[in-house]
Amino acid sequence: MTAVVMMAERQEKLSVRNLVADRDLTRGDLRLLFELADRVKTSPGSFSRALPGKQLAMIFEKPSLRTRTTFEVGITSLGGFAVYLDHTKPRLGEREAVKDIARNLSRWVDGVVARTFSHDSVTELAEHGSIPVVNALTDMFHPCQALADFFTLGEKFGGFQGLKLAFVGDGNNVCHSLLITGAKLGVSVTVATPPGYEPKAEIVAEAKRLAEETGASIELLNDPLEAVAGAQAVYTDVWASMGQEYSMHLRAQVFAPYRVTENLMAAAAPAAVFMHCLPAHRGQEVVDEVIDAPTSVVYDQAENRLHVQKALLILLMQNGRA
Ligand code: CP
Ligand code: NVA
Repeated sequence: MTAVVMMAERQEKLSVRNLVADRDLTRGDLRLLFELADRVKTSPGSFSRALPGKQLAMIFEKPSLRTRTTFEVGITSLGGFAVYLDHTKPRLGEREAVKDIARNLSRWVDGVVARTFSHDSVTELAEHGSIPVVNALTDMFHPCQALADFFTLGEKFGGFQGLKLAFVGDGNNVCHSLLITGAKLGVSVTVATPPGYEPKAEIVAEAKRLAEETGASIELLNDPLEAVAGAQAVYTDVWASMGQEYSMHLRAQVFAPYRVTENLMAAAAPAAVFMHCLPAHRGQEVVDEVIDAPTSVVYDQAENRLHVQKALLILLMQNGRA
């Protein structure tokens, strides 16, 4: 009996066909994904024929080390393979309509992973295609990152009960995903940004609504020291995301008080871990002493991208086309 058949007998399916934004996944989906990711991580050989011959198109408008490698290695180690589509130039929609790209790809491959500037591009791919579409980062969200991050926190702390994560820096795509997925899992998320760099108000409002159901709290502050108090995880990301490099000079000044230093880590809960989605700009948002410390889990997060995304691909692609 193959691992997939065994899994199908034991587990429910995901409630969705695509992962466009973090809000798509229910709490049950998250549980299912994490359970499978745990088995994929512990026993990768059992899943080597989970997706035999399945073809994954990987569209990238932006650079990537972790996402590209983990999706390509992931699908290959499940028995399928990937085709890389460099869309740095032209971006999606410039040479032909996004819906035409979605309809073409649906005739050739079994799934699409897409990293785009505009979040609407991934939404449109999902709307107009008949195959699963996974958001591999847009300007609004990075759901695969949040999945790996909370999976990592679950491993480190034996679950999510009572956890608090402090995000310090820019209220960006990664911050949005951590807010929504954290709220769903019952992890309290406090965000400290400079004034004017807060996460989008509608995402914060959505996270607050979700947190009411799980007993978590969502807080927005400007003071990083206040934000990390009592946090088991201190998370930061680059001050200028891909596409915002033009504003780096200004941001370097605005964000300087938000650098994660040993002093800031000392103000968090005892044994707090340091997290970063990577790539890191050492000496800017985080100092070497913190990212290289034993309490840094950044490479565990990066490793878990592979396991969590393999679980996601299995759950989304094992059932074939819509
Ligand atoms: N964290 C992350 O998505 O890394 P890449 O940009 O290298 O894919
Ligand atoms: N916020 C960063 C994340 C990189 C993985 C960016 O969008 O560039």
